[in-house]
Amino acid sequence: MSWDIEKIKADVAADVASASSLDALESVRLKYLGKKGLVQEMYGGLSEASADEKKLIGKGANDIKTLAEGLIADRKIAISAQSKRADAIDVTIPGAQRGVGTQHLINQTVIEICDVFERMGFVIQRGPEIETEFHNFSALNIPLDHPSRDSFDTFYLDQEDPQVKGHYLLLRSHTSPGQIRVMKQHKPPMAVIIPGKVYRPDAVDASHSFMFHQIEGLLVDKNVTFADLKGLLTAFCKKYFGDDVTMRFRPHFFPFTEPSAEVDIQSNIFKGRAGKWLEILGCGMVHPKVFEAAGYPAGEYTGFAFGMGVERIAMLKHGIGDIRTFVENDIRFLRQY
Ligand code: PHE
Repeated sequence: MSWDIEKIKADVAADVASASSLDALESVRLKYLGKKGLVQEMYGGLSEASADEKKLIGKGANDIKTLAEGLIADRKIAISAQSKRADAIDVTIPGAQRGVGTQHLINQTVIEICDVFERMGFVIQRGPEIETEFHNFSALNIPLDHPSRDSFDTFYLDQEDPQVKGHYLLLRSHTSPGQIRVMKQHKPPMAVIIPGKVYRPDAVDASHSFMFHQIEGLLVDKNVTFADLKGLLTAFCKKYFGDDVTMRFRPHFFPFTEPSAEVDIQSNIFKGRAGKWLEILGCGMVHPKVFEAAGYPAGEYTGFAFGMGVERIAMLKHGIGDIRTFVENDIRFLRQY
């Protein structure tokens, strides 16, 4: 039998090239190199061939075998690489954008307010959210029968104060207990700002929540006057709300300050509230009883304190009508700030 060696070589090349999967390539391999393949068939016919033919066919079969092995090996690599590429990441596709979070508006407001006071020399301090009756009330000159001590107005824990029998731990109802803690730890002069969460069992509505944030301020030194307090709070309001803001100090009562006042502000930047007085904080001169509770010698120091509601200020500044939106976690609300 005679073989067209060149034609077979061309067939091998064409078959290998058209094999598009590893299975198809294996069929091509069997066709030429398998036990019943063409190369074996060529070797099998050698015994009947003449000496000249033997030489030609033998060499032809060897060449075809070498060629087929080489081409199949290369093709195998190409097919594997192609299937790998199909699973690989296409780096040319535009990236999927992951939403970038923002700081919650309440935290932003706390940071902004503290920043104004820090630039005026105040230092940030923190107090615990679980407090004793002593720090939250007694030390602040709030008498035992004061209505704010009532369990309707304060969240009490089921746990007794380890220091005072019959007194229970509580969730602080204001940041003022921080005043006592700071004064017990440090000697005047001092100017501190104490931001944090406070808790009151209020019925939740558009302007009340059982948890909200306050920022307490305390400055103690010698010869501090109410004029210093007014000057500082005026500087704060202008800086934070803008030069257009007008303020008034309205006489008020707090057991831990004397005299005491509430501060109202007015500005036409407050959407829908132009011309209205809006209360933003309570303040006053530190009561001598508070200095006494902190262990300071009588008559040595004077100081002032103030406490402001963060939610209320954020609502004013950003025209937000409902305090509940801060905790509902609606991404469409949060995303705006
Ligand atoms: N603690 C007071 C409140 O929660 C605010 C206040 C702080 C008033 C400091 C005077 C001085 O209403």
